Amino acid sequence: MEETLERLGLEYVDLLYIHQPAGNWLAGYRQLEKAYKEGKAKSIGISNFEGKYIEELETKWEVIPQFIQVEAHPYFTQKELRGTLDKYGIKLMSWYPLGHGDKSLLNEPVFAKLGKKYGKTSVQIILRWHTQMGFVVIPGSKNVDHIRDNLDILDFRLTEEEMTEIAKLDKGERYYHWTDEQLAGFAAWRPSFETK
Ligand SMILES: NC(=O)c1ccc[n+]([C@@H]2O[C@H](COP(=O)([O-])OP(=O)(O)OC[C@H]3O[C@@H](n4cnc5c(N)ncnc54)[C@H](OP(=O)(O)O)[C@@H]3O)[C@@H](O)[C@H]2O)c1
Repeated sequence: MEETLERLGLEYVDLLYIHQPAGNWLAGYRQLEKAYKEGKAKSIGISNFEGKYIEELETKWEVIPQFIQVEAHPYFTQKELRGTLDKYGIKLMSWYPLGHGDKSLLNEPVFAKLGKKYGKTSVQIILRWHTQMGFVVIPGSKNVDHIRDNLDILDFRLTEEEMTEIAKLDKGERYYHWTDEQLAGFAAWRPSFETK
């Protein structure tokens, strides 16, 4: 934390995350809590702590994280995890909110239909859906027009019926699968990365 703040030239950051439950992640989480208690991180978050990881953390946290960043989009809405998050008031932040640009998601007819109704693109309809789900949304783009469009989603509201229609797309299928081996491998790989 100290090194990060020094590099940034700041006295605090608004939000500090632990990226994934790799290695001795509880020791890492304790550092986040310390930073929060000292006012060096105004809020703290976890990322990719799903299933058994959040279940374990839930029994050990001293400070409840304010955010969790996980894969979420209309094909995978994190139904199970949201039960836990609602209990504690933890905000979901969606990564791969546009399915990493997957054309089959972006071209779902329901988005084109609603786009026509509201004068928006299909992507804007998807991003609006995220915000109405209560998700914080972080679409990636290297295109300045797309970035501008992605911010322009605050002047319309999908109806309950439209949200229900989009809910029908949920296949409970994620694009990215972490395995325990990958997480362990990441922990082993990381130290050599840091010396480069
Ligand atoms: N915590 C984690 O483990 C984790 C894992 C993965 C990703 N993330 C984060 O999640 C964020 C998003 O991830 P992502 O960029 O991979 O996936 P994404 O936001 O789901 O999709 C990005 C794709 O959507 C396209 N796109 C964006 N805006 C568009 C628009 N208005 N119209 C048409 N196409 C559009 C982009 O193309 P253009 O460039 O052409 O616009 C790009 O191909 C990033 O900040 C990333 O760091 C976090």
